[in-house]
Amino acid sequence: MKKLLSYIWPTTRRFYSEINGTLEVTYVNGKKVLDTENANYSYGSLQKILEFGLTKVDLKSVENLLLLGMGGGSIIHSLRNTFEYSNNIVALEIDPEIIKLAKEEFGIITSEKLQIIEGDAFQFLKTSKEKFQLIIIDLFIDLTVPPVFYEKEFCENIANALQNEGSFLFNVGINLEKNSKTLETLTSHFGKGFDLQILQKVNGTNTLIIGQKLVQ
Ligand SMILES: C[S@@+](CC[C@H](N)C(=O)[O-])C[C@H]1O[C@@H](n2cnc3c(N)ncnc32)[C@H](O)[C@@H]1O
Repeated sequence: MKKLLSYIWPTTRRFYSEINGTLEVTYVNGKKVLDTENANYSYGSLQKILEFGLTKVDLKSVENLLLLGMGGGSIIHSLRNTFEYSNNIVALEIDPEIIKLAKEEFGIITSEKLQIIEGDAFQFLKTSKEKFQLIIIDLFIDLTVPPVFYEKEFCENIANALQNEGSFLFNVGINLEKNSKTLETLTSHFGKGFDLQILQKVNGTNTLIIGQKLVQ
């Protein structure tokens, strides 16, 4: 009934998180989405943006995938249902309230092929010895990517965690200009070891960088 009514009146429930502020779960047009005060986090435009990025990546050779910024898990849903990816996923999420909502509202739970780790993506990459064939980087607090994820150390750790010929898909921000300092800096941090593609205005708003690690 709630689902049916949502075609006429979207219904919203609000939760409070110390990390992300107000979180909203809204039933709109028969679908549940997760938003913050100003941004869609999961199961709305954000999911479409990452799905577009995934169409540019070869998933066939991926056995171990790292997702930094699990949110409500919409891209996990897409990977399993739209892209038929059935191999391992390690998902990092810093906010326990979001992990709870992912489980209770969206059915995203730990399983044999999905490890959910509550923790900071930056620290995780600093210490992890695991190798991945694909890393999806989708780290936001509301509309902003925390600046530490534009730094050289983070980019070097991404490179170290990737196998040769592995790829990353980095959602680098909203409304970034083509010649912005952020894009220039990121491109230079990844350096010559990567084949980089920059996708601008994905879904009208976001910039994605796709990088494939060259054989060294
Ligand atoms: C846009 S949402 C991710 C949406 C998700 N990829 C999906 O497919 O539904 C961004 C997430 O990054 C998380 N985040 C922000 N900073 C983080 C950090 N330092 N370490 C881990 N997660 C972080 C936020 O808590 C938020 O859940």
